[in-house]
Amino acid sequence: MPRATSPAGHHAHTGQTPFPLYTPQFAADPYGCYAQMRERHETLAPVLLDPEVPATLVIGYHTAVRILHDPVRFPADPRVWQRGVPPHCPVLPMLEYRPNALRTSGSAHARYRAVNLSALGHLPRHELHALVERIALPLINEMCETGQADLLTQYAQPLAFQVLGAILGCPPEIGRRVAAGVAALFDLVDADAGNAMIIEALGELVGFKRRHPGPDITTGLLLHPARLDDTELVHQLITLFGAGIEPEQNLIANTLRLILSDERYSGDVLRGSLSVRDALDELLSVDPPIANYCASYPPNPVEIDGVFLPAHQAVFISMAACNNDPAVVSAQRPGNRSHLTWGGGPHACPAQPLSYLIAQTAIEQIVDALPEMELAVPADQLTYRPGPFHRSLTGLPVHFPPTPRLPLT
Ligand code: HEM
Repeated sequence: MPRATSPAGHHAHTGQTPFPLYTPQFAADPYGCYAQMRERHETLAPVLLDPEVPATLVIGYHTAVRILHDPVRFPADPRVWQRGVPPHCPVLPMLEYRPNALRTSGSAHARYRAVNLSALGHLPRHELHALVERIALPLINEMCETGQADLLTQYAQPLAFQVLGAILGCPPEIGRRVAAGVAALFDLVDADAGNAMIIEALGELVGFKRRHPGPDITTGLLLHPARLDDTELVHQLITLFGAGIEPEQNLIANTLRLILSDERYSGDVLRGSLSVRDALDELLSVDPPIANYCASYPPNPVEIDGVFLPAHQAVFISMAACNNDPAVVSAQRPGNRSHLTWGGGPHACPAQPLSYLIAQTAIEQIVDALPEMELAVPADQLTYRPGPFHRSLTGLPVHFPPTPRLPLT
């Protein structure tokens, strides 16, 4: 659909050049780009998520908090917006309407959120640490004798994938198909095929858990008195899988990168005086694993900070830019958790303690097992995958003295 006639196509900042977020240049230096945005715009910058999809990116912390807590003027339901987006637009599957918590507002959102919260509560929390450890140790054993590894592809990725599969009660074969689909979605490479692959595999998971219920999130969704139908169940699972794998692996890998590249940590975490928790808190605060998200679509024109936002144009929160907003950054102290990395308001991530526990356990296991590991390339040569939403390394190569395998219990 031509831009001029599409509800997605009118730009809030008439005459201003939008910043493309889909380019390799943006992935290479997003913080430089946020700084340029701030030079030209105070709190709201015009961006392109794709050449055909303009949006507003919120780069001011206080403005983001107001928007996140104003679901009436900034609801998350994209249905009118997406009518103006070309059907094969690669960002669409990441943003389009689904009957789930993330993409609904009002009473529909309240219903889905209640089901998700209850299903997350269905997990036996006291067993999670042991579960992550059970998954981490064989992965470490695969690499420890070789003296070198890629911590992204050999550790963070398979660990996040296996842990999520386990807590969703998902058989490995179904999980593998979902993971391939999720990767295609986030990379925006053949996103349509990725979407179709995910829907089919998760439909099978719903059928499997009906026949084999267990102490897992999927069974929790199935048992909830709101009685979601099969389509709704699949869409809750898409959110849980999408949220659980990609951001979690980025949180683990990016925190390991911080620990290994920043001398405040590389000495001290490995020696034990600064905790992995400190590194996680710093990473979550300064370099969020989902950089730009929390989409909303004002149903009516709205003026905010003197900028006129038209109805039905996407508004995104840049957690990365807001967390580093000079207006708040000076007030932040170590351990400060007022960052927006988990979103905020009614859609704030309901799985924060779970995500934290998975990442902390995973990082502690590998740091304990391979205390002398070092980056195999200088930190400034590490690269990130393009994409407007994630902050995702392409690899994290390390070397270490070959170490005997760990005993498995
Ligand atoms: C490092 C890991 C994670 C990060 C950084 C993260 C971040 C976020 C953010 C920013 C949102 C808000 C999105 C929005 O407002 O549009 C969100 C929502 C959500 N997250 Fe997470 N998340 C993580 C892990 C997880 C995990 C492991 C799960 C579950 C297995 C999960 C489940 C959800 C759900 C269901 C929502 C939708 C809530 C709603 O709309 O009411 N997240 N997450």
